[in-house]
Amino acid sequence: MLRYGGDYNPEQWPPEVWEEDVALMRRAGVNLVSVGVFSWARLEPREGTFTFGWLDDVLDLLHRGGVEVALATPTASPPPWFSLAYPDALPVTATGTRLLHGSRDTYCVSAPAYRAACRRIAGALADRYAGHPALAMWHVHNEYGTVCHCDHVAAAFRVWLRARYGDLDALNDAWTTAFWSQHYSDWAQVFPPRATQYLPNPTHVLDFRRFSSDELLAAYVEQRDLLRAASPGVPVTTNYVLGGWVPVDHARWAREVDVVAIDHYPADAGPGAEEETAFAADLARGWAGGGSWLLMESAPNLIYTGGRMHAKEPGRMARHSLAHIARGSAGAMFFQWRAPRGGAEMYHSAMVPHAGPESRVFAESAELGAVLGRLGEVAAGGVSAEVAILWDAASWWASQGRGLPSDDLDYAAALATVHGALWRAGVVCDFAAPDADLSAYRLVLAPSLYIVSARVTAALASYVDDGGTLAVWYFSGIVDEALRVWPGGHPGALRDVLGVQVEEFLPLAPGETVGLSTGERGEAWSERVHLAGAGAEVSYAGGRLDGLPAITRHRYGRGATWYVSTRLPRDALGHLLGRIVSAAGAGPTVSPAPGTERLATERLATERLATERLELVRRRDGAASWLFVINHADVAQEVPARGVDLVGGAPVDGTLWLPAGGYAVIREAGPVAL
Ligand code: GLA
Repeated sequence: MLRYGGDYNPEQWPPEVWEEDVALMRRAGVNLVSVGVFSWARLEPREGTFTFGWLDDVLDLLHRGGVEVALATPTASPPPWFSLAYPDALPVTATGTRLLHGSRDTYCVSAPAYRAACRRIAGALADRYAGHPALAMWHVHNEYGTVCHCDHVAAAFRVWLRARYGDLDALNDAWTTAFWSQHYSDWAQVFPPRATQYLPNPTHVLDFRRFSSDELLAAYVEQRDLLRAASPGVPVTTNYVLGGWVPVDHARWAREVDVVAIDHYPADAGPGAEEETAFAADLARGWAGGGSWLLMESAPNLIYTGGRMHAKEPGRMARHSLAHIARGSAGAMFFQWRAPRGGAEMYHSAMVPHAGPESRVFAESAELGAVLGRLGEVAAGGVSAEVAILWDAASWWASQGRGLPSDDLDYAAALATVHGALWRAGVVCDFAAPDADLSAYRLVLAPSLYIVSARVTAALASYVDDGGTLAVWYFSGIVDEALRVWPGGHPGALRDVLGVQVEEFLPLAPGETVGLSTGERGEAWSERVHLAGAGAEVSYAGGRLDGLPAITRHRYGRGATWYVSTRLPRDALGHLLGRIVSAAGAGPTVSPAPGTERLATERLATERLATERLELVRRRDGAASWLFVINHADVAQEVPARGVDLVGGAPVDGTLWLPAGGYAVIREAGPVAL
């Protein structure tokens, strides 16, 4: 069974509406709702006084309607009574402002009173509902990510630092406090990175993010353990929020959740939304270790961009949902079930919009529910890929710091650009941690992997030595885990395996470009590269780097490495990735002309294909396989396929024809060509 539903907030409505909700959920094929995410004030109106009657009624009603519940702990939004009782548990910004309730997420995660209140409400919910027949999953908190800089946090940060470094000598060394007279001679001198006069110490800032991730995780684990103890076997999760501001290492957290669950809201209303969707889904699968995960929230009918709401075009809600499922999601969940009449997000979209069930959006919700009802068998299938992109939260965080060689070193954008080029070529890829076992991949891509430890250096070298292909982009392997430059020329950690030495960075100004021997032009970044074993595949042409290597290739052991020293625009990146993917022996999910060896190159290089926007992903379970075919283009397209389309029920005998915006999920028959 695939999960289908969304956040359900019955506390915003009178009981008559609950009855209608459940009836509509049945019509829409909803089988799971997240309940109680923001219900703290309703559940515990006064400290220690619980009012569970209404929630009993809601869960009973849902159960009678055949809808299961991901029961939330409401700890993302403490009630106003909490702020007044425990002002020390309110969050403090880096500039020292203490915030007050009035929005949500107004708490300090290190404040003992907050943690105690969380344990009390989570424990009370566990006691009351552990055995409820509607309970399918626990949904702890909502989108962990709140940071505080108060004295409770300072104390907890010091404990974390002592555990990491042991003593102040080691901390001083790691933080390079010899610079600007920052030497610490007492732990009491160490604070969270509060507002400073000028540039902060980058390692201090990075360690605070690492600490914040661990501190938030500890708060999650406290609740999880209570819930697990009360209801063994019921999975516990929390919904990840994605974004550069989020101080959470989701890969690390994945070890502590029973199901990786993400919320995803594309920021681009144009064609980029589909690439963003695939990027988030592949990331989630990476965090889930390649296994199944759950899209916990997405918007039925909204992309918020450029200061306004963009209503999704008809069919786009289904295409995005199927794209997530194709890439391993166990279902499609939305924020939210019914649009509220008031409150800060009253104009956010919902499966039941303000217009009510007689609406396009509800009709599409019901249609999607019916489709997912026919796709239950795919839930068993996993997704495998031959290509991996390395993902490292610390490199992302560090690349957001100040004092770097360029302001144009956006880690997430670097990864998305490479991932997008693969998406347009139909090459499915995983995301993997730099220290993961990479031996299953033919090709590993490392865009802007700024931090590389000695351990990761050795692991990457041995991956290549054993026959793998590694492609590395500029601003990778520059520093160790403490953000200390690897000396002797960049990229210090990877010089040997790449066979190059970078003498100096030459970042480009906005709009400035640099010529390449291919006739293409590099953007944003260039550097003076010397060959140290590698050969130049592409050189700089013109300017002060004229004739020097820009893109190199190196044989290392039984494998190969590539180094890309500039940012390539879309088409040039497509060409290059086509060569790299082909040379590594990897390729797209489906070949339009099976047997064509140059396929990956063609698909990656051809603008015509880049505009076709046909998403092809296969889920497999042993000998069984399901091919997801999603036509995001506004033209009809054909794909070679054989089997039965579970969406429409029709057999497919060699060629699948899909109208513009159409989709199919083929239970494949016969041998499957990869
Ligand atoms: C997040 C939150 C929801 C809601 C949506 C709006 O995903 O979890 O509560 O605020 O964003 O997009």
